[in-house]
Amino acid sequence: MKHIETDRKRIIRRKKCSAQRSPPHGPVAPMALAVHSSLSMNETRHGTLYGFFAADHARLAEHFDRATADPRAIDRDAYAVFRQGLLRHIGLEEKILLPFAKRAQRGEPLSMAKQLRREHATIASLLVPTPTPEIVTSLRSILAHHNAREEGPGGLYEACEALVENDVEPLLARLRAAPEVSVNPHVDNERAQRSIANHLHRIGFDEYAR
Ligand SMILES: [Fe+2]
Ligand SMILES: [Fe+2]
Repeated sequence: MKHIETDRKRIIRRKKCSAQRSPPHGPVAPMALAVHSSLSMNETRHGTLYGFFAADHARLAEHFDRATADPRAIDRDAYAVFRQGLLRHIGLEEKILLPFAKRAQRGEPLSMAKQLRREHATIASLLVPTPTPEIVTSLRSILAHHNAREEGPGGLYEACEALVENDVEPLLARLRAAPEVSVNPHVDNERAQRSIANHLHRIGFDEYAR
């Protein structure tokens, strides 16, 4: 009976999702990365899994805004904290959350998983070079789009909450226990720039490719 109930919830959520419009790709204002702050109407039905990831988005947005308050004089220490935290956040989603959803659906990945992984790869590519005003603009726009896809109605976190049902604690324990990630120094070469352009193209953000 459990899987029938889960499937029913997924169908309801798919209907909600199909009515949702994708957010625009254009430049976004600071703090727009903390999408959850604009979703107060929905917050009462969100649980601790949603809250865990939305809070991490908000925390990372604060570091990003602090680091890039003046894009021509980026605060390298604050940016390093943001960069390491964002790579860990992506790792949690790629190595724990998405595999959890796939297992919960008996081997079927979430329909949004492929696109989310592409966007993660794009974000990671933008974290490779030393940050520039252009990279900051691209990151801000892609993160706003990506975080809305995860936090919004029918998004990743709602889908996972529907799958986890009343047994969220073991999953949260794994997420909290995940180690910090070690990050490599920035790499500034033509190959890194080509990688960014290719990833941007794959997710439809060509306007940010240089
Ligand atoms: Fe993500
Ligand atoms: Fe996320």
